[in-house]
This record gives sequence, structure tokens and C-alpha cells, in this order.
Amino acid sequence: MQSKNSKTKEVLVCDTAQDWIDTLAQILETMGISADFIGPDMPACMKKVEETSYAIFVVNVQSLKKPKEFLREFHSRHPELSILVTGDRGATRLADYLWPPDIIAEYSFPNRTGRGAPDLGALIKRVLDFKSRMPDISVRFDPVVDTVLSLNSQSRSNPSQKRQDTSLIEIKNELRHILGKLFAGDTNSESIAREITVEPFEGAGKSSSVLLQITPTILLDKEKKMSAILKFGPRTDILQEASRYDKYVQWFLTVDQTVRKIGFAETQSYAAILYSFPRDKPDGIVSFSEYMRENDTDSILDIIRKMFNVDNQNWLSVDGNKLVDVEETFFQHYYLEKVIQSDIDEMRENHLGILKSQINKLEKSLKEDIVEFAGENVVIKPLSLSIPNPVTFLERPLAEQVKMTVIHGDLHAENILIDDDSGRYFFIDFFYTGIGDIYRDFIELEISTRYDLFSSRRLSDAKRLTAKDSQTTNMEGLKKLLRLEKSLIDVTIRDKDLKDPLILDDPDLCKAHKIISEIRKHAFMNYPDKKYLYCLGLSYSLLRGLKYFYPLDVKLYRLFTSGLYVRLCTDGTLG
Ligand SMILES: Nc1ncnc2c1ncn2[C@@H]1O[C@H](COP(=O)(O)OP(=O)(O)O)[C@@H](O)[C@H]1O
Ligand SMILES: [Mg+2]
Repeated sequence: MQSKNSKTKEVLVCDTAQDWIDTLAQILETMGISADFIGPDMPACMKKVEETSYAIFVVNVQSLKKPKEFLREFHSRHPELSILVTGDRGATRLADYLWPPDIIAEYSFPNRTGRGAPDLGALIKRVLDFKSRMPDISVRFDPVVDTVLSLNSQSRSNPSQKRQDTSLIEIKNELRHILGKLFAGDTNSESIAREITVEPFEGAGKSSSVLLQITPTILLDKEKKMSAILKFGPRTDILQEASRYDKYVQWFLTVDQTVRKIGFAETQSYAAILYSFPRDKPDGIVSFSEYMRENDTDSILDIIRKMFNVDNQNWLSVDGNKLVDVEETFFQHYYLEKVIQSDIDEMRENHLGILKSQINKLEKSLKEDIVEFAGENVVIKPLSLSIPNPVTFLERPLAEQVKMTVIHGDLHAENILIDDDSGRYFFIDFFYTGIGDIYRDFIELEISTRYDLFSSRRLSDAKRLTAKDSQTTNMEGLKKLLRLEKSLIDVTIRDKDLKDPLILDDPDLCKAHKIISEIRKHAFMNYPDKKYLYCLGLSYSLLRGLKYFYPLDVKLYRLFTSGLYVRLCTDGTLG
């Protein structure tokens, strides 16, 4: 607590109702909390806090004439002081100002009797306990954190520049508060960390959250610095990820297969999850995307075999999932939990409707006469390819059923980390984890493999088979990719041998072929005899990608690949 002034008390209470004041005074006294009381006179309040050092200012907003102005002024002059607002805060529109919660807390009492005073007393005690531990922790923000945080908040809203400056301070205060909660330790113990360094984290994702690297000096061992990843973002999003992690990850993946969740803390608007680095080492960890680009096929296949091993009695195994009620559902219920809960008509409207408009957009943007939408068919002229229109097909009702199981839900290769030394893999990013279509993780991973090996911006121009910009189309590349797809269908669906010389002679195509074949082998092992559903799921997912920002010919690639798999479902190949 502060010591700059000679006089020190814990609480200053500003209110008018004498009954209430008396009750509260009595309660605080029994709790051993020192307090002064004052009427709603702004200059007098200011003077009082300048003379005496308090930790908390408890104020009834309804007794103030201009509460918002007063509190802002108060806060800017005494940022160290926590403000505890009583009364109806909503009525005074204080919410306009995003108060950092270690500065402001609210307690709205239903009436002016003394009934709520014990609760307020308890709240004051909690704030005091928290504040008394905070000064043990010094937090150092790397200057780049400011940039990362403000870029992220800008991408979510578009407030005026002035508002931006204020909110950056506020966001950082919330972050500081969250760090306090994570590292303060139990009420009666010392804080866990003394110094915490906060830096931006390379490779941060695209979601609403920000990834930060946290390096605390752990108090138990003064020399020891450990790093962890803090996923910090809007409270509701982070809350969802944290609850799904708790619900599913602990048992469907073993600790070895995923990063550990070390902690979770929330404030009014924000929350954060503290994750470990795999085996606590930030170096030598690469994403599976990177790993696939850099390593030979055999070591990649090894990882896939380990990942989708049917001996894994929990995740994805046919007879596993003992802990969940595995229910069958119609295929159209494929994908998001939202979709699973809604009925088929709504799903068609919301999802296929979006896909349809995306296809229309694609049709318009490809004005060079490459694609012709001819009724139920799509013709891609430079490839001499005619495919069924996947959207038209996916609109049809289906009686096929798909098996539901626990899935990761977003298993693209950027959400898998590989320890380069041991070849062990770790799953991250559990925002969508839950019950879903058993094929979904396989499908997501095979689609991302194509992207990572042939379209990623990280590839050299020579290796990339689709155009980097959004105008041109790389027809030579697309022709190769079409051959790859046809060969994949021959090998994995029609059980033929891989013999296309173009694929065999091209190391990158051959690598992709083997990886995707291996993924499918495991998918079919987990849920045999349902290749039809796999192909439909693949078409749907490929098409779904059209709504994201990809270069035009990545979309074209997705469209024709989607059509190729729909064709298998219509031409009798799959029964
Ligand atoms: N525990 C971790 N250890 C190492 N890297 C991580 C960890 N968590 C996240 N990352 C990196 O940050 C990126 C984004 O994290 P992720 O949880 O996938 O967030 P998003 O929802 O934004 O995709 C990952 O792709 C990975 O590169
Ligand atoms: Mg991710």
C-alpha cells in the first residue's frame, strides 16, 4: 500500500444516507477495516484523498451531480485508487467509459436498507486483499505490445483516434489485472511471480485474441525464468475456449499430445488463458505446416500415424469416447455446433445460402470466361473439366448418417505444433472443440495440407502452384493440382495403385499425395464404409473456404476439387 502520505486509511466512503453509513461503518469496524465517511461534495472528496492515503473510494453514484465527469477526473488524478461504485451504475451511463476493473468495481444494492452492507464489506475486503498482493509483481510491457493490442482492438471496432488512446491504456490495465490474478497466488501466500515480462508472440493467429509471450520470474526459484503463452482477448471468446478445453481436452487428448492450460483469469471485458510451451521450450517448436514443407515424407507420415492411431482409446476411435453419449445425426448437420443444433431448413438457408452467393461472386469475378455455370454443371474451360455444381448437390436432402464423436474442430496444420527434436506433436487452439462429425478433423487437415504445400505465401514462387495475387490464375499449376486430385481419387477411393508419372516424378506432388492418402487411410479406419460421407464432407468444407479471403484461383481450385468429389457421389462410384 502507498506510503507517500503520513495518514493512511483503507477506505473512503462517499454517501448521503445516514442509516446505510452507520450500518456499513459498523460492519467495516468488525472486519478490522479502517474507513472515513464523507458527503457527496466533490472538492471535499478530492481534498480528503490528497490528505490521507486510501486504497478504495466507495461512492454512491446517484448522490453525485455529474458522476461521469467527477469519476473520470478522480481516476486521472488518483489512478492508484480503486473506485467501488454503489447505486445504479447503468442509470448514469458510466459504462460509456471502459473502466479498468482494478480501478472500478460495482455494487448495486437493491434498496437503501442496510441489508446489502455485509456483501459490500466482503467486496471491499476482496479488493483490499487483491491490492495488497499486486505491488509484489512488476509488469514490464515490451513497447511492441502496445502496437499489437491497438491493432487488434482496431480490427474489432472502429472508434475515433482519441477513444483509441484511452482504450489502449484501459486494455493494458485489464491485462495487468489479469496477470495479477494469474500470478498473485492464494489469498494468504506470496505472489508466484515477482517480475513479469510481456512480449508479443510471433505467429499469432487470426482470431479475436492476441497471443503474448509471458516470461515471469518465478519466486520459488529466483534465477528461474519460464515462458508461457497468454491468449488474451474478448471475455466471451476466451471463456468459450477455456470451457471447451476443460470439458474435452483433458481426457480426449493426453497431456503429451496437447499444450497444458496453466491458468485462466477474467475481468469484466477481457479474459486470458495461460498456456505452456510444449515441454516448456519455445525454441525448436514449429507448426505442422512448416514441418511438412521442411521435412521428408517419411517423418511426416510418422507423425500422422501417431496422431490418428486407432489405439487411442479416446479420440476418434470407433469404440472410444466412453465418456460421451455418441449420437448419430443427419449428414447435413455436419460442421459447427450451431448447425448441429438447428434444423435442416435453417442450415440450408444459412450455410448453403452463403455458399451460393459466394459461388455467384466467384462467377462474376472470373469474367475472363474461364468458368461457365451451365445449369447443374460447372465447366472450367482451360482445364477441360465439367463437374456437378456442388452447391446444387449439397442442397439435396440426405438420409445418410454420420458418426458423432469428440473432435478438435479446427485441426488445420497451423494448430498442430511439432517438437523438431523428438517429432512429438501437440494440439493447440480449442475454440471449436466438442462433439462433431468424426471425419471433420481429417478433412480439415487434408485441406490445409494442400494449402500449406501449394498455395501458402511462405512458399517460394517456384513451389507455389496457385497465384499469389487475387487477379491472375496459374493454369499450369492448377492443371497439376487437378492431376493430383484425380490420382488421389484413384488411389484412395478406387483402390488403385499410384502410377501417374507426373505425380511420381514431382517430389512435391508425390509428398502431398502420400500425406493426404495417409490421412484418408486413418479416416476410413476410424469409420469404415462411409467414403460417400467423407467425399461430401470434403466438398462442403472445400466450398466453405470460398467465403474466406483467398486469391481467386485458390477459390477456383477449391471449387473444382469440391465438384470432383461431388461427382463421385453422383456417378455411382460410391454406391
Ligand atoms: N502454447 C503454445 N506454444 C507455442 N506456440 C503457440 C502456443 N499457443 C499458440 N501458439 C502459436 O500462436 C498461434 C496462434 O495460436 P492459436 O491458439 O491457434 O490462436 P488463434 O485462435 O488465433 O488461431 C499458433 O498457430 C502458434 O503458432
Ligand atoms: Mg489457430
